[in-house]
Amino acid sequence: MKKPFYITTAIAYANAGPHIGHALEFLYGDVMARYQRLIGNEVLFLTGTDEHGQKVLKTAKDQGKDVEIFASEKSALFQKLADEWNISNDDFIRTTEERHIVAAQKFWTTAAESGDIYKKSYTGLYCIGCERFITEKDLVDGKCPDHLKEPETVTEENYFFRLSRYQEPLEFLFKERPDFVYPKSRYNEMLNLLKDGLEDISISRVKEKLPWGIAVPGDENQVMYVWFDALINYVSALGYGSENEEKITTFWPGINMVGKEINRFHSLLWPAMLMSAHLDPPAQIAVHGWMTVNGQKMSKSIGNVIDPLELVEKYPLEAVRYFFMREIPFDNDGDFSDEKFVERYTADLANGLGNLTNRILTMIEKYCDNVVPEVVTIDNAMIDLLTQKIWPAYVEEMEKWRFDLALEQAWKFITYCDQLISDKKPWELAKAGEDKKVSDLLHHLAEALRHVAIMVWPVMPETAEKIFTKLGLDVAVELSKPLADLQQWVELTVGNKIDKADQLFPRMDEKV
Ligand code: MSP
Repeated sequence: MKKPFYITTAIAYANAGPHIGHALEFLYGDVMARYQRLIGNEVLFLTGTDEHGQKVLKTAKDQGKDVEIFASEKSALFQKLADEWNISNDDFIRTTEERHIVAAQKFWTTAAESGDIYKKSYTGLYCIGCERFITEKDLVDGKCPDHLKEPETVTEENYFFRLSRYQEPLEFLFKERPDFVYPKSRYNEMLNLLKDGLEDISISRVKEKLPWGIAVPGDENQVMYVWFDALINYVSALGYGSENEEKITTFWPGINMVGKEINRFHSLLWPAMLMSAHLDPPAQIAVHGWMTVNGQKMSKSIGNVIDPLELVEKYPLEAVRYFFMREIPFDNDGDFSDEKFVERYTADLANGLGNLTNRILTMIEKYCDNVVPEVVTIDNAMIDLLTQKIWPAYVEEMEKWRFDLALEQAWKFITYCDQLISDKKPWELAKAGEDKKVSDLLHHLAEALRHVAIMVWPVMPETAEKIFTKLGLDVAVELSKPLADLQQWVELTVGNKIDKADQLFPRMDEKV
């Protein structure tokens, strides 16, 4: 039976087009979703855009645009990002969609019925960049340290959510589920915040001042606070509040994967909101780090913001996907620079996987009439390495979002295969008439390549599929095996025709 696996990204603010930090998050989600599909789970992968709130409204106004049209245009850029980066999301939710608005209002009503929403007058400091109230002690020189802007003082009568009421249930949740927030360092950060005590939080704004938001049920003068609205996307996409809540039953609770700066909304506010609406807390909040460019935070003022759509016009998509996943560890920050990209491309792809594939296929063409040769003597050392060491380590790292380390395992095997060729020198064996040894070796190497293709598939699906085709294999068959079978050494069908055309990764100076 296929196990349901629901995975989401954060939904990006539709106040600007995507940058490569957004692309990184899409990729983390994509690779996890593809891996889960590969091992036979029934995956639902969601992404989308967060379109209400002051930030989007203000940017639209500053640019002299109608906010609805403006948000649609920006949302379209994120959908384009998903398409062009070959992101396998099953759904894309926009918070301006009717299905979301209905869900958010039902959610609000349910929380109100739980006695968790009340009205009070309030004065606070609001940072539009963060889209949240911040306190004096958060400020550095009177400014928000993340957005380097002075917050505005807001005095309003707002609705509040009784977050304080969930202090104990959340403490219990954190105690019962030490992996509720992943990785551990992010869990500890949240546990410390929790220990400081939770305060009730404003969850609406006066409509007169902020007309761009979802109406609060039963009060036409107020709209929902953008975070309260946005978090609900994870269940509105499952049909929460609609006639058909089948997907909720199947897929909730799911894993919400987000960047480190919005961890607290997801790990503290969101589970409390869910409890208030009688839904389970998320299965996990998986928190990734940030991507910098040439060692610096991306920012408009520095002028180092990289547009992911432009990046894949400059470099091949599959190589970019590889670079991001190999270079930026999930549990830490990581950096992009052209130098690092070219270095990785040359070492790992052109000289690594690309060259190994080419070497193997060229030798099969030359010594075995271009077909997969038969095998007589099995090389147990190679099989043991692959099935007892490489595969188990690969699986363990993939499960932990450590795609960089999973790829490292595949590359260990690539290096091993390269070394084997150098040690065994099939060209000398062929000269000496040792045909059996040559075909044994090349059969093993073809099978080794098939395994490497499976392992790189979540990160470089097109490359993996090309390798299968080159080996005369059916992509669908190769990818549809259960995990236990994926890891098995099999004898390839002897006589499969090899297709050597097209180099996988031509050297940069040859092509780009
Ligand atoms: N709209 C909110 C999220 C609401 S989720 C219910 C938001 N949007 S955002 O556009 O600012 O960020 C969207 C995601 O992109 C976040 O998870 C954020 O951490 C991630 N990233 C933004 N910049 C990033 C980098 N430079 N590097 C990696 N991820 C980054 O927050």
